[in-house]
Amino acid sequence: MSSSTGSQGNNVQGRKYELEFDHTKVDRNGTKTEAKVLGTAFNVLLVRAKNQYFATAGKCSHYGAPLVNGAVTSNGRIVCPWHGACFNSATGDVEDSPAISALRTFPISSTEDGRLFIEVKDEGDGGSKFLQPEGCWRNKATEVYEKGSVQNQASAPHVCIVGGGKGASVAAEYLRERNYKGRITVLTREDVTPYDRPKLSKTLMHDHSKIALRSKEYYDELDIEFRFKSNVNKIDPKTKTIYYGDNESLNYSKVILATGGEANKLPLPGLDASNVYCLRSLADGTKLAAATNESGQKKNIVIIGSSFIGLELAIALKDHNVSIVGMDSAPFAKIMGEEMGNAIKALHEQNGTHFYLNNSIKEAKKSLGDSSIVDKVVLKDGQILPAEVVVLAVGVKPNLSYIADHVQLEKDGGVKVDKNCRVQGLEDVYAVGDIAHAPYAGLPENVITRIEHWDVAGNTGRVAANHILLGENAEYTTKTFTPFFWSAQGKQIRYCGNNAAEGFDDIVVQGSVPDYKFAMFYTKGEKVVSVSSIMKDPTVSQCSRLFLTGSMPTKSQLKEGFDVCSIDL
Ligand SMILES: Cc1cc2nc3c(=O)[nH]c(=O)nc-3n(C[C@H](O)[C@H](O)[C@H](O)COP(=O)(O)OP(=O)(O)OC[C@H]3O[C@@H](n4cnc5c(N)ncnc54)[C@H](O)[C@@H]3O)c2cc1C
Ligand code: FES
Repeated sequence: MSSSTGSQGNNVQGRKYELEFDHTKVDRNGTKTEAKVLGTAFNVLLVRAKNQYFATAGKCSHYGAPLVNGAVTSNGRIVCPWHGACFNSATGDVEDSPAISALRTFPISSTEDGRLFIEVKDEGDGGSKFLQPEGCWRNKATEVYEKGSVQNQASAPHVCIVGGGKGASVAAEYLRERNYKGRITVLTREDVTPYDRPKLSKTLMHDHSKIALRSKEYYDELDIEFRFKSNVNKIDPKTKTIYYGDNESLNYSKVILATGGEANKLPLPGLDASNVYCLRSLADGTKLAAATNESGQKKNIVIIGSSFIGLELAIALKDHNVSIVGMDSAPFAKIMGEEMGNAIKALHEQNGTHFYLNNSIKEAKKSLGDSSIVDKVVLKDGQILPAEVVVLAVGVKPNLSYIADHVQLEKDGGVKVDKNCRVQGLEDVYAVGDIAHAPYAGLPENVITRIEHWDVAGNTGRVAANHILLGENAEYTTKTFTPFFWSAQGKQIRYCGNNAAEGFDDIVVQGSVPDYKFAMFYTKGEKVVSVSSIMKDPTVSQCSRLFLTGSMPTKSQLKEGFDVCSIDL
């Protein structure tokens, strides 16, 4: 066997397995195929990039998408087809959220006649553990950082993170991934470690052990300290002090604000009743699940709000009588257009969900038998809906009251940051995720916006941590990723780009909307500002790269049927 052609960084000594694959599928840079690992039941992803081959696990470490259906750039970045996570094919490192764990990689060697072999370390299991395509390699943080190396003296650097969601968890881990040795303290008002918040509305999943991003032991291993049930009341940026809980305080050298949003309430009669719910946290999910499963009987459930979370909940609760009240003419029409909204509405109607659109709630009526609960919802147009459970899904307001004395908040309650997520006008204060108005890739110069996406929270957490580590040399900013969003509406919607800041004036549809197999390109003039799709992977993942490289075709080209997936990345 000749010496290796392409290889990965990990120094594995183990058994070699030959790969069987279609050579024509990996004949140039930026191509990929699934390769069978001979003698086993497993496949790996084989990538051709930088004139070398790379082999990684075949499934995404987020929710397990087959990476062979995604996209690959000529320099070896693997883009997941489902939610846009990116991985470095040489190291397996995560380069874009929502994945948080690196992919396994396998050293490759070749023979002169073009046969390829991967090397798999045998840890007494015959190597089988390493060949399982699901799951992920140990995250790099636990490989790089050695427990106990944190500097504890009073003068040592100390990053405090306020909030315990996705932005917080990625920021903390990323610091350790780069071997940050200062203290890291996470102050969260919740009583659990960060969890997969998007899962709350998909299935009303509320068992923390099933949705935790990491175990508590994992954070302990990285010396990331959590202070639970620690509501932050005030931050004084002059003295670098955080006040939290009952008269407790903590000093920081840098602070990352990652406090997300608070579900909006409506100041209408009856909505203070005990059977009116919202859904932002695990605690909210637990209460709502109990209320809807209580008797095991079908209930009348009224969801106020026809956007993503309200509609996802309608699916989770489809065994009940669900009504949705919304102010727009079609669900999320402002973001994805009427045609998409109506297509999704039709799917929900097949489940028996009733829509009351171009409408709104006037009040909820207290029950005559029990004034602590409501039993009817009265709509603006006079219709009355029976209601045993009411859910308010009417958006969120950023949680930032604790810093409002020191910084001018935006009209919607968010805070302005620069491309490194530094809060403008305050020193050593960063803000990430749902609270931050940032200059994202794809927006015109000087335009900033606030984006409530799971991916964006993870990516901005990494941006802030990267700047804490590297200062002005930080290579990762809010301009280096494209905002990506997904929603489960009976069919999976993918979406990338941003039209909230600029709006769109036309939509080019490729594919068939009635068959739920299409991509929609939202355009302003000739420029594409965002893209959505159903059953058209990897169109949106591909577009997330095209936006970054400025290679997105024009509206006219798309109207002529140009296929974005034909563009080499
Ligand atoms: C039900 C649901 C479903 C969703 N589904 C999707 C989806 O499918 N796809 C998608 O892209 N996005 C989805 N999102 C949006 C996504 O979850 C958010 O964009 C993301 O969680 C934002 O992360 P974050 O870190 O900014 O804030 P959060 O995840 O909200 O975390 C904020 C944390 O800060 C804590 N906190 C707040 N104030 C204080 C304080 N004063 N002191 C201490 N702690 C505080 C909170 O308790 C919380 O732990 C969904 C959101 C919800 C609620
Ligand atoms: S499954 Fe890959 S990004 Fe979600």
